[in-house]
Amino acid sequence: MRIAVFASGNGSNFEAVARQRYRRAQIVLLITDNENAYCVERSKKLNIPYYIFPYDKYSGKSEYEKDILLLLTKEKIDVIVLAGYMRIVSPIILNAYPKRILNIHPSLLPAFKGMNAIREAYNYGVKIIGITVHYVSPAVDAGEIIAQDAFRIGRRTLPEVEARIHRLEHRLYPRVIKRLFDKQGDRL
Ligand code: GAR
Repeated sequence: MRIAVFASGNGSNFEAVARQRYRRAQIVLLITDNENAYCVERSKKLNIPYYIFPYDKYSGKSEYEKDILLLLTKEKIDVIVLAGYMRIVSPIILNAYPKRILNIHPSLLPAFKGMNAIREAYNYGVKIIGITVHYVSPAVDAGEIIAQDAFRIGRRTLPEVEARIHRLEHRLYPRVIKRLFDKQGDRL
């Protein structure tokens, strides 16, 4: 299974999934909309090719996604893994990869969708906080849930909670990829 990771920022989840050992799954390339994002540095360090698609240089989302789709097709990508990719995926890419696009979100969906989910949940006063891996669907953070993990906040500060959330993400995301796409005999 040839996997493309999409990221817009730090890329710690990209690195976590790329460092996992798989038998059949393979992180083939990174796609980013942000040439200054740290995920690009991680890509170089990991020796994984990266491709920058500067959103502002396109006339709109469809031109941008069509260009990405050309690369995905050329590289024979089977699965897309979103890892801190801060754009909504439109039907152009969605329809080409039905049930083949995953996302990780730092909340127990369907609560706290969208940006700043950890801070929102923390400030709301939730007692249990967590993360979700789900299939990507046209509505934001609303696709079918694949896996979740959670912990009790207790007396932790927001930075401590954020750090623990990220540790959970780095453990759960590679595991889900392994379970879904690393099976013997898996094919499209
Ligand atoms: C992660 O916490 C991920 O769950 C979140 O962005 C962070 C990216 O970190 N994604 C979303 O909020 C998507 N709605 P990373 O760039 O270090 O992987």
